[in-house]
Amino acid sequence: MGVKILVVGGAGYIGSIVTRLLDEKGYEVVVLDNLLLGHRKAVKASIPLVEGDMADTRVLSDVFSAQRFDAVMHFAAFALVGESTKAPYKYYHNNVSNTLNLLQSMKTWQVKHFIFSSSAAVYGKPQRIPIEEDHPQKPINPYGWSKSMVEQILKDGSAVDHVRFVSLRYFNAAGAHPDGTMGEDHADETHLIPLTLKAILGQNAGTTPLTVFGTDYDTPDGTCIRDYIHVLDLAEAHILALNYLLDGGESNFFNLGNGTGFSVNDIIRVAERITGEKVPVVYGDRRLGDPPVLVAGSRKIKDMLGWKPKFDDIERIVETAWKWHASHPMGYEQ
Ligand SMILES: NC(=O)c1ccc[n+]([C@@H]2O[C@H](COP(=O)([O-])OP(=O)(O)OC[C@H]3O[C@@H](n4cnc5c(N)ncnc54)[C@H](O)[C@@H]3O)[C@@H](O)[C@H]2O)c1
Repeated sequence: MGVKILVVGGAGYIGSIVTRLLDEKGYEVVVLDNLLLGHRKAVKASIPLVEGDMADTRVLSDVFSAQRFDAVMHFAAFALVGESTKAPYKYYHNNVSNTLNLLQSMKTWQVKHFIFSSSAAVYGKPQRIPIEEDHPQKPINPYGWSKSMVEQILKDGSAVDHVRFVSLRYFNAAGAHPDGTMGEDHADETHLIPLTLKAILGQNAGTTPLTVFGTDYDTPDGTCIRDYIHVLDLAEAHILALNYLLDGGESNFFNLGNGTGFSVNDIIRVAERITGEKVPVVYGDRRLGDPPVLVAGSRKIKDMLGWKPKFDDIERIVETAWKWHASHPMGYEQ
């Protein structure tokens, strides 16, 4: 019998691409997604998609009682930092309480292996760059706290053998499937690369130009520096983490980033080179709580799991994103 995985949030940006890779590699996959932020079309028709919410314990018990899973990959969350500061309960409810529902159901149905989408946001303001896994954790917004709280729950659960987990702390997920058929389609887009490309395509509702938040940071060109990791490299890391757990690996935390930072202006220049178009830009003030530089140290996952990013070149990352956005100006709904 094959290895069977439940992918919660598998109709979203990252989860759908991981689902596709799992399916291509011969794993059996079931997706659970409430389709609030995800897209039915992002999941191949032959893959079972349960439309339901992890807040609903009946849905969870129906899913877990109907089949035996070897592992759960958990992508479902709200992930807008700014919104989390305005609606903290909404974030704690979905990201923490609902994750606890999921973990409780896993315990009931004796599913042990769990792969969690954590975030660089657990670290807060960096005290040193690159940020390694042992960097102090002081989140600076409810979103970051919600991820940090789940990590604590996982540590406590694993100490009493309720769960064995890998928590993957992604830096900025970026890019699209290289074949151009799957990519980022967020109604409320906040990520720089899609916003830059959509500004070129003239699609940012009402405000076509890209807003650059802050030009007076202590960085070489004054704009914020971030670490971009291609969504397929993230997906490969999930497969490695899965096999690590299935082989008996202990619960662990890993960063996932490229280890190279690019400024907002760098990304604009790369987008202009790739598209041959000028990015319409307006310059705004700094956003509260944006650290000037966030760059990952990802040596641990390379050393322990043998992860090798294939898209460590920012041009390739932006190129794949452009292929998706240019061919799907309305995302999945066209
Ligand atoms: N995109 C990034 O750069 C990034 C960086 C760090 C961490 N993460 C984390 O990775 C995960 C995936 O991110 P994404 O960009 O693919 O997000 P996304 O919004 O595209 O996908 C999340 C999916 O979860 C579903 N979902 C949300 N709440 C649910 C619920 N209660 N029940 C069932 N389904 C629910 C949504 O409908 C959506 O399909 C999130 O946990 C996010 O916090 C993302």
